[in-house]
Amino acid sequence: MKKIYWIALILGTMQLVTAQTTDQYSYNLMPWPKEIHQGAGNYVIKEDFTLFIQNVSSQRLHNGATRFLRRLSGRTGVFFEEGFPQKVKSAPSFIIEVEREGSLQNFDDESYSLQITDKTIYLKSITDIGALRGLETLLQLVTPSANYFYIPALNIEDAPRFPWRGLMIDVARHYQPLDVLKRNLDAMAAVKLNVFHWHLTDDQGFRLESKRHPKLHELGSDGEYYTHEEIKEIIQYAAERGIRVIPEIDVPGHASALLTAYPELGSKKDTYTIERYAGIFDPTLDPTNEKTYQILEDVFTEIAELFPDPYVHIGGDENEGKHWDENPEIMAFKKKHGFQSNHDLQTHFNLRLQKILEKLGKRLVGWEEIMTPQMPTTALIHSWRGVEEGLQPGESLAKAAQKGHYSILSTGYYIDRMHDVNNHYLVDPLPKSFSLTKEEQKKILGGEVTMWGELVTPLTIDSRIWPRTAAIAERFWSPATVTDIQHMRKRLTMISFRLEELGLTHLKNQNVILRNISNGYQTDALQKLTKVCQPLQKYSRNKGGTEYKSYSPFTLFADACTTDAPDAYQFSQLVDTFITEAEVAQKPLESMFHQWIANHEELLVLKGETPLVSELLELSSALKNVSAFFLKILKQEGVSKADANDFASLMNIIKEPRADVEIVTYDAFMKLFEHLKKSEL
Ligand code: ACM
Repeated sequence: MKKIYWIALILGTMQLVTAQTTDQYSYNLMPWPKEIHQGAGNYVIKEDFTLFIQNVSSQRLHNGATRFLRRLSGRTGVFFEEGFPQKVKSAPSFIIEVEREGSLQNFDDESYSLQITDKTIYLKSITDIGALRGLETLLQLVTPSANYFYIPALNIEDAPRFPWRGLMIDVARHYQPLDVLKRNLDAMAAVKLNVFHWHLTDDQGFRLESKRHPKLHELGSDGEYYTHEEIKEIIQYAAERGIRVIPEIDVPGHASALLTAYPELGSKKDTYTIERYAGIFDPTLDPTNEKTYQILEDVFTEIAELFPDPYVHIGGDENEGKHWDENPEIMAFKKKHGFQSNHDLQTHFNLRLQKILEKLGKRLVGWEEIMTPQMPTTALIHSWRGVEEGLQPGESLAKAAQKGHYSILSTGYYIDRMHDVNNHYLVDPLPKSFSLTKEEQKKILGGEVTMWGELVTPLTIDSRIWPRTAAIAERFWSPATVTDIQHMRKRLTMISFRLEELGLTHLKNQNVILRNISNGYQTDALQKLTKVCQPLQKYSRNKGGTEYKSYSPFTLFADACTTDAPDAYQFSQLVDTFITEAEVAQKPLESMFHQWIANHEELLVLKGETPLVSELLELSSALKNVSAFFLKILKQEGVSKADANDFASLMNIIKEPRADVEIVTYDAFMKLFEHLKKSEL
């Protein structure tokens, strides 16, 4: 057979599936793989499903494959005859072929390929970590039909775009128990994230046990800290899932908790207490005191013994140096050494830590403020500031790469700011606008989602991290061309629900909170209201960092609300459709207005039963009245001048945040109003 004929045959049976052609091929994959080729038929999951791991003896992969079998069985309801990977190869349905064990470091291979036919599944990878990534893809492909579950016949070639794909969890502002961390590590693995950055210390808590200086955790943590055994448990749990763990000890600022234990290390001769508010505070380590370095060296030595990763994060952010300026001895030290600014003094401090870490065989990571000319290029720069700090997003990232530092991006991935997923999804660590050489581009390792913990507790943290982080994970893993927002949102809905399989509480805890609010009464009406509300954005929920202290309740309506309020999103889509094709959207719009009117009546039932709903009734009542107004216009019942005036005052109510949430339909209401006014309906 002629070669050309072969090619035609292959192309004829295998169709390349891209994110753009996915209306046809709607796999709920996230992150979207590098290449998918559609095959013929389906692999049907049955009781005789068996799995064999070829070539490599990796405990990590054996355990990962066993978890895969449990999840597959749980998903499909099929009672497998074999619950574990085969010890001896015996006509397996699924073969995993791996060349070697991977190591948890930058640039080790995480690629894999999947060949799924109607008869067998092959997963091939260089490393066992690559195979784990492939197993997650396979689980995302499991599809139901009327009588069975199947995996569609496909060929997938996949590899990450960036080697550093992280999630930072701040456990200092609010302590997060091990089970919270573990379920989030499972979710990270499900979307192919591979770095857990553990923000262990801050003004509100020093949460790492120190055997050499136990006062640090005893006085700095209210008893909520991680023992060495627990740290090892998390590192092991993460490593089993192909995830690295980077600890952060944030110094010299953000140090109130540390100074509560060791006030003599402070730049102000004072006593210190654990901070209960949110914000940027003055307590700062004294960089002229040798004891500061002794204690930090001891802490880093313990860290080096515990954490296998080569990188240790020293924070270094937001030190305003107020206490340095107020201390004449520190000022004299600064003068003696010819330091022009507090930044120079902080560089002196950072370089001391850099040497300590180097001695311990570790490399330093710091927030972008650590990047000064003297900082060796072995230090990894963590870019986080943006427009609000008067900088271009990613400015320090590109600069760091040009100087020869490895760097990672967090600007744009601050999920605690409660922006919609669209907002984060298109932020690219390596946008086309960067004019970097190929070598410089390689220095940009990827990015990290940052989950700052001021406003989250174990009850709510999952709903702040997920599902948006899955979309950001796609940015870190998938080709830069995968940018279709509609397609991402569609897949994300399913991925979000799938994450529950791993024990995440981001969906179910909404009802836990609402039951508390309703005091055990029906929560349907409250839930309906959450679908148009979102918590206040950009830290305005916690005005000046003082409305909420670390021990305030995080069980309020705002905690039950999330970003991307689904009904609000649907409503704004409908308004857009209405403007171009009124007849298509009219009925669905009317239906939404009717629902909001009915919902208010239902919510009124709770009025006499609990004090926690009164503020919500104002919101709900405004929504009801606006709905009635629009219905009147849509049904052409005539609108009086008084009605229009009422509309204006209603919109003022809608615009005004209440109960720490805002109704997200404001813009769409205004758009619809303006359109209707123009069309003189
Ligand atoms: C930071 O957000 N202060 C790194």
